[in-house]
Amino acid sequence: MAQVKFFGEAVPLEMHKVRIVQKLNLLPIDQRHKALSVAGNNTFLLQNADVFLDMLTDSGVNAMSDQQLAAMMVADDAYAGSATYTRLDAKLREIFGTDYFLPAHQGRACEHILAKVLVTPGSVVAMNYHFTTTKAHITLQGGVIEELVADVGLEVNSTLPFKGDIDVAKLEAVIKKYGADKIAFVRVESGTNLIGGQPVSLQNMTELRKVCSHYGIPYVLDASLLADNLYFNKTREDSCKNLSIREITRKVADLFDVIYFSARKLGCARGGGICIRDKELYLKMRGLVPLYEGFLTYGGMSVREMEAMVVGLDETMDEDMISQGPLFIAAMVNDLDRRGIPVITPPGGLGCHLDAKRFVDHLPQSQYPAGALAAALYLVSGIRGMERGTLSEQREPDGREVFANMELVRLALPRRVFTLSQVKYAVDRIAWLHENRKLIGGLEFIEEPAILRFFYGLLKPVSDWQDKLVAKFRADFGDSL
Ligand code: F0G
Repeated sequence: MAQVKFFGEAVPLEMHKVRIVQKLNLLPIDQRHKALSVAGNNTFLLQNADVFLDMLTDSGVNAMSDQQLAAMMVADDAYAGSATYTRLDAKLREIFGTDYFLPAHQGRACEHILAKVLVTPGSVVAMNYHFTTTKAHITLQGGVIEELVADVGLEVNSTLPFKGDIDVAKLEAVIKKYGADKIAFVRVESGTNLIGGQPVSLQNMTELRKVCSHYGIPYVLDASLLADNLYFNKTREDSCKNLSIREITRKVADLFDVIYFSARKLGCARGGGICIRDKELYLKMRGLVPLYEGFLTYGGMSVREMEAMVVGLDETMDEDMISQGPLFIAAMVNDLDRRGIPVITPPGGLGCHLDAKRFVDHLPQSQYPAGALAAALYLVSGIRGMERGTLSEQREPDGREVFANMELVRLALPRRVFTLSQVKYAVDRIAWLHENRKLIGGLEFIEEPAILRFFYGLLKPVSDWQDKLVAKFRADFGDSL
């Protein structure tokens, strides 16, 4: 990787240049207020045209490279036997060293197929931490999940480099409790999404492999956020310091029986897939692909996206590419942390995560503090973040709220999309909001869907707090945006 030392202030340095741009729109605050209320205070429901910096997610919105766009032009359009599929299959074998590949239209489609084949009523999936769609597919099949991230993973602030690691003793205890034959699989989520994009060490993945082998339990990697994880393995783990990203990838991949991913994240395109070693398991899953996804050589993906994935996966092996997310995230997290604004530390992948439990510590979890903070941030900045807290949980079957371990507002930094000045604007507005945090009030549901409610549930403020926040913004900034 390019090692650049600065004479003065060190900044994250782009290792690319911008050749295509998209104009942004920053609405005045009264129009943002209206847009927020039309969206039911749910940032998923905002129109992108009303958003200034879209930090909702990196999913499907990472910047693509010139090489990816060029490759899309030579995609081989065929229902069956597309040469593009053959190239993708070969690239995954080359990178992961796995034997079989099944395409799917995105990550949750892989989870659907995995759950259908491996999860039975009453079986258990042990994992570092759930992702929303993963949990939904497992529970839909009657399975239960056990979250075994080491306790430090749930501490907001830490200096530990791998907060996504599973506590091996907890895994042993879960296997004893249920019996090994009840464990459908052990799942490692690289770059653990809901606890702040925190990585998993190669050492931990290796220890878990031993446990899985001992008990004969399938070992599954969710590689959606693997790119960031690889960067952290390389930069934070001694045993990886002298290895190339390609070598680290192979060391990781060699440990797992199944590797699945959202290619909306890994490979900076749109799609997904499952890489498998065992032929019998492959054949079981294969039957479901034409049923739910599409024929075996496209699995619901456009061939152009598949062609972009081939290049994107190769570019993921380039440290100058995968460093960009973590470096910008670290700049943002460290700046906020220096100002005393509560954020998840150490900086992880995916984005910067505001700790709403402390930011708005006057709000009870029943009023969705992270949702309220995400709404307030859009109001004062036009920045769209994502609630990752109680709103993103699903209620117990008896209707009780499940209060999330963490109340986070995720400000994703899709790779190579935002500039440092845009990050500084975000920090400036968050700092203003922090000064005025006592004005932020809670939210309540107007319409609450039963499944994945955070996607399209409608909420309203519990009082007139948003009017007061707008008035304070006006008092401080006048008519400016
Ligand atoms: N696993 C992880 C770790 C993810 O972060 C995601 C998606 C999925 C699986 C599902 O993949 O979206 O392609 O179906 N995360 C997105 C996000 C939605 O915004 O973090 P998908």
